[in-house]
Amino acid sequence: MPEEKNNTPAETGKDFNRRDFFVKLGLGSLSIAAAGTAAFSYQFLSPNVLYEPSPIVNAGRPENYAVDSVTIDVNSGIYLVHAQEGFFALSAVCTHLGCLTAWKPELGIIACPCHGSKFKRDGEKIEGPAPKPLPWLQTWISDEGDLMVDRSITIRSMQFVRV
Ligand code: FES
Repeated sequence: MPEEKNNTPAETGKDFNRRDFFVKLGLGSLSIAAAGTAAFSYQFLSPNVLYEPSPIVNAGRPENYAVDSVTIDVNSGIYLVHAQEGFFALSAVCTHLGCLTAWKPELGIIACPCHGSKFKRDGEKIEGPAPKPLPWLQTWISDEGDLMVDRSITIRSMQFVRV
């Protein structure tokens, strides 16, 4: 009959492997819990705000706008007008309920498609329910020579930018 040998767990390495497994399992669980806590804390501490695009628009080179032209930038909601007196920018957003207006070159007016307000090229109201004229927006020439418009700043009318 073969002799049975009683090896100790340390000799077989089974106990060490089991302990090692549970240590690794515990550390893995703690790591997952710590990562979840960190992600939740970051989300909780981050400001809950919407980041809006800058109100400042680079309208490009002044020479791109012919004299007596009215150009709408649909993406930024502004008109760039090159009048005989100089440049100015108008908000293209109707002062009634905020529809985007449209330049009608055949009539020489700005018209709102929603409720029929009409404006002159300088923003002055002609008719319709709009309570106010289209506001003039701060406009200037950058150091690089581009026309710049700040949609967040309205100015008095008739302040032309001369190039
Ligand atoms: S939104 Fe322009 S007239 Fe009503």
